[in-house]
Amino acid sequence: MARKKIALIGAGNIGGTLAHLIGLKELGDVVMFDVFPGVAAGKALDIMQSGPVDGFDSAMSGTGDYSAIAGSDVVIVTAGFPRMPGMSRDDLVSKNAGVIAQVAEGIKAHCPDAFVIVITNPLDAMVWVMREKSGLPHNKVVGMAGVLDSSRFRLFLAQEFDVSVEDVTAFVLGGHGDTMVPLTRYSTVAGVPVPDLIKMGWTTQAKIDAIVTRTANGGGEIVKLLEKGSAFYAPAASAIAMAESFLKDKKRVLPAAAWLTGQYGIDGLYVGVPVVIGANGVERILEVEFTPDEKAAFDKSCGAVRELIEASRKLVG
Ligand code: APR
Repeated sequence: MARKKIALIGAGNIGGTLAHLIGLKELGDVVMFDVFPGVAAGKALDIMQSGPVDGFDSAMSGTGDYSAIAGSDVVIVTAGFPRMPGMSRDDLVSKNAGVIAQVAEGIKAHCPDAFVIVITNPLDAMVWVMREKSGLPHNKVVGMAGVLDSSRFRLFLAQEFDVSVEDVTAFVLGGHGDTMVPLTRYSTVAGVPVPDLIKMGWTTQAKIDAIVTRTANGGGEIVKLLEKGSAFYAPAASAIAMAESFLKDKKRVLPAAAWLTGQYGIDGLYVGVPVVIGANGVERILEVEFTPDEKAAFDKSCGAVRELIEASRKLVG
């Protein structure tokens, strides 16, 4: 069986980490594209040179020429600008909407059959720009945010309960960032919902509320610590989980920014919901019932995403 081909658009912090993980997990060959082709080529060569030590054979190359991404099975997009301290993800829209529109043209021209995972922020709006400008089917264009947000939530819950992260599941919906909606009643330790754990005296509502706030601000906490740039290890790992589910047709249930066509009462919007990712891209959207409070929080989050999409529409048409 021929190796899969994965294109990484953007060879910065997340792009480099993605390439490394693809090698370590033997997911396929990698082409890294960047407006600084030397950086892309240098990282590709460096990572490939770790292959003999770690035992992987992925071929890796760097380029500034879109024709090199032809025939890619998966494209992961991180091109654009990261946050600096004091910036919100939304502040990035004026810089990144144009970048994503350009990248979308490259994908449309050279690998229109690929599964495209967007990471560039502000996430939900950038996924919309990618879909509009590439013309790819909606089920083949998704955004990575929910896996990251729920991974942060799982870590903080595991620390609170002093249990393995492996036994904690979390359920997060809505736009990426401040308006994210964590559903604690669907978040569990080995299947036991968080509200039950509060009743059992394992924690308190106040502590869970603080964890929810920390999760929603999880990216900002890292931006502040790094002082230049934003998180990249966990975002890369999260996108790889989505790519792997597609490439291996695993049909994992993962939260992702997906195109809603009436689910959750929302029509025509990219926003974070749990989806099944398999060989056909987004194969199904999982729709759970909301309490009135959850519905209000979700609608508020969708409103924030709509505003950013309108801002993007004005920028890229
Ligand atoms: N086409 C291709 N690559 C581009 C373009 C473009 N038009 N514009 C910028 N780039 C490249 C940069 O040269 C850089 O190598 O995108 C890369 C971005 O890398 P970093 O600055 O290291 O940013 P990173 O941490 O990888 O985050 C990228 O993901 O999480 C989001 O908010 C984050 O929007 C940001 C994106």
